[in-house]
Amino acid sequence: MVDGLLQVEGGRPLSGEITVRGAKNLVPKAMVAALLGTTPSVLGNVPLIRDVEVVSGLLTLHGVQVDYDQTAGILRLDPSRVEAAHVADIDAHAGSSRIPILFCGPLLHRLGEAFIPDLGGCRIGDRPIDFHLDILRSFGAVVDKLEAGIRLTAPDGLRGTVIELPYPSVGATEQTLLTAVRADGRTELRGAAVEPEIMDLVDVLQKMGAIISVDTDRIIHIEGVEELAGYRHTALPDRIETASWASAALATGGDVFVHGAHQSHMTTFLNIFRKVGGAFDVRDDGIRFYHPGGDLRSIVVETNVHPGFMTDWQQPLVVALTQADGVSIVHETVYENRFGFTKALCKMGAAIQVYRECLGGTACRFGQRNFYHSAVISGPTPLRGADIVVPDLRGGFSHLIAALAAQGTSRVEGINLIDRGYEHFMSKLGSLDAKVTRLA
Ligand code: EPU
Repeated sequence: MVDGLLQVEGGRPLSGEITVRGAKNLVPKAMVAALLGTTPSVLGNVPLIRDVEVVSGLLTLHGVQVDYDQTAGILRLDPSRVEAAHVADIDAHAGSSRIPILFCGPLLHRLGEAFIPDLGGCRIGDRPIDFHLDILRSFGAVVDKLEAGIRLTAPDGLRGTVIELPYPSVGATEQTLLTAVRADGRTELRGAAVEPEIMDLVDVLQKMGAIISVDTDRIIHIEGVEELAGYRHTALPDRIETASWASAALATGGDVFVHGAHQSHMTTFLNIFRKVGGAFDVRDDGIRFYHPGGDLRSIVVETNVHPGFMTDWQQPLVVALTQADGVSIVHETVYENRFGFTKALCKMGAAIQVYRECLGGTACRFGQRNFYHSAVISGPTPLRGADIVVPDLRGGFSHLIAALAAQGTSRVEGINLIDRGYEHFMSKLGSLDAKVTRLA
């Protein structure tokens, strides 16, 4: 059995207020950046999620003193005694997160070597690390693949370089930033990802003393510096968690105020939410998302890198689309295999077909490669409770939404996966008046 079993009595609108703290896809990277400083860093708005625990563990193994005040959400990281960790200890973290790959640059700068265990993260496609290794080699790192992971050394130090990414990968852009800031000379990165979380990491690095300019057309220039200091920073809010609760409000016919949500990071989501028939009110302290009554409308939407519609917004929205009137099309262009979660929705009564073709939008790199990466959702279809197993983080949250929207009882297995990215989701469900009971 996969860890965590939840019983959900569905068919009740989610209603109430919750708080969303710092972004899962920024906080662990800002924690890694602290390794580059000569003095302690302080990060605020840090949520209690599994990825933060994993990175805290890895930093501790490398001699960083980590102090986390969970209630205040304040993390203090002191890197003054960074040291090499034992391979076996690092390996104990294998399979639990993809963040370790971002330790490479900072560890090479601090220690001249790095060991990276086999990587985990969600099973949503192959998720290779070829861009990362090519980037590190381009800076002058020597990469040895071992059975348990990857060993890197930099016998001649790391030098600035010119990198052209084949795809605007979030992780590869972060890899370049975290390595270039202390490399010798200038680095030019072309084809960079420009997600808000990356811009927040640029802010963190600039506070530390880095010189980074984000130019037009996805070009970033970095001038390496000899020393970086610690930073003080408040993480931007999690726009994926915000959108997840928004879709949950819509799918259940509910009304949820998300404290801490920012409009500027969510423009594309808000446009789609409104087109589907959802309503929202933006306030200084957050955003209220609600179902205003009437029918939801079908839509054609394509996921893409920022400023497009995020891949991570797709799965929760698909649940709401099962309740929309007509045929919706979702074309996934970031990951080749992100519709596995729809099987469980069909078991609950949804009418969703997945296709290999690029439907409803421009042709993408998966069109010729036999991946089921387009979904056609016909609605509205009432959902009924069922026994389902969580496949991955975002797919899992979508299953939870489906169970909350469905008539009758569902048993959702494997909910511990959801802890990776949704802080205190059980108590948040409680404050939104959901009827959920943890069975195991
Ligand atoms: N890719 C390669 N080679 C590489 C790296 C990426 O082919 O070396 C491909 C991937 O397979 C994918 C595409 O490039 O098809 C984009 O991947 P990207 O590198 O942008 O993703 P990532 O950095 O691994 C982060 C988030 C994901 C989010 C994506 C896209 C973190 C820890 N993860 O992943 O978040 O979906 O960017 O925005 O920041 C999640 O939060 O549930 C999640 C999966």
